[in-house]
Amino acid sequence: MTLDLHGSSAVVTGASSGIGAVVAARLAARGADLVLVARRTDRLEELAARLRAEHGVAVDVVPADLTTPDGVTEVVKAARAADRPVGTLVNNAGFGTHGPFVEEDPQRVDDEVALNVTALTNLTRALLPDLLAHASGAVVNVASTAAFQPLPRMAVYGATKAYVLSFTEALSVELRGTGVHAIALCPGATRTEFFDVVGSEEPAVGRFQTADQVADTLFRALDRRRPRATVVSGRANALAAALVNVLPRRLVLAAVSRVTGG
Ligand SMILES: NC(=O)c1ccc[n+]([C@@H]2O[C@H](COP(=O)([O-])OP(=O)(O)OC[C@H]3O[C@@H](n4cnc5c(N)ncnc54)[C@H](OP(=O)(O)O)[C@@H]3O)[C@@H](O)[C@H]2O)c1
Repeated sequence: MTLDLHGSSAVVTGASSGIGAVVAARLAARGADLVLVARRTDRLEELAARLRAEHGVAVDVVPADLTTPDGVTEVVKAARAADRPVGTLVNNAGFGTHGPFVEEDPQRVDDEVALNVTALTNLTRALLPDLLAHASGAVVNVASTAAFQPLPRMAVYGATKAYVLSFTEALSVELRGTGVHAIALCPGATRTEFFDVVGSEEPAVGRFQTADQVADTLFRALDRRRPRATVVSGRANALAAALVNVLPRRLVLAAVSRVTGG
């Protein structure tokens, strides 16, 4: 079944680059009007113009810093102001920091938790009633393969993504029978601007995927009648995630610290 999103709108955070930009384009191709969110307005305007022209959908651009409560409020206001009811929420905006925790910039760490955890939670809480009123759709929270095990030298990032995974899986159970699905999308290393922001490719594990491959994984999941709550992108990543789930934590930590240099 191919999911048809005509008549609904989709909110995508972090749509100015990488996975968010590609997912937004796929949602437009399925007929969804869009509410695109990020700080770099020029990038969002460029994408919006292209998607309006290619797919004839309505696209609103919302410049917002989601590390702030005002940023989250702006997005909720814009989502409610859209002509179509919200049918899809993609909490994709996120970034990672790298290095020994004690040496990390405290403000940067605070922003990382505010964006990856607080904004994602608050946007979901604010917009979920709208999705439920529509009685169909999905909350897609972008986690990571980093969610499956602790990550020395990326301790905060790994912990934020473990939160996203746990929160989303719990939500998926609460939403059973409502027509709304919660999906934790878990990409592995993906060729985007993510590692530019991290400042190093050192923590990248395994073969890189493209943002298109990650979007393929997501839309295969969304096209299922009953999407799984946890969707890992890439066979090797899925295998590694499955292994981590069955191995003793002590062994996992030892293996991970060899890879991350922790
Ligand atoms: N790439 C990977 O290897 C990988 C692997 C697993 C999971 N992920 C996850 O995938 C998601 C998307 O990342 P990506 O790989 O596509 O990286 P990316 O190209 O760096 O995109 C990150 C997006 O988040 C937005 N963003 C960052 N800070 C923001 C803020 N304060 N307020 C609002 N928006 C903000 C950025 O837009 P502005 O800078 O314009 O605000 C950008 O659109 C993230 O949650 C990331 O953790 C990535």
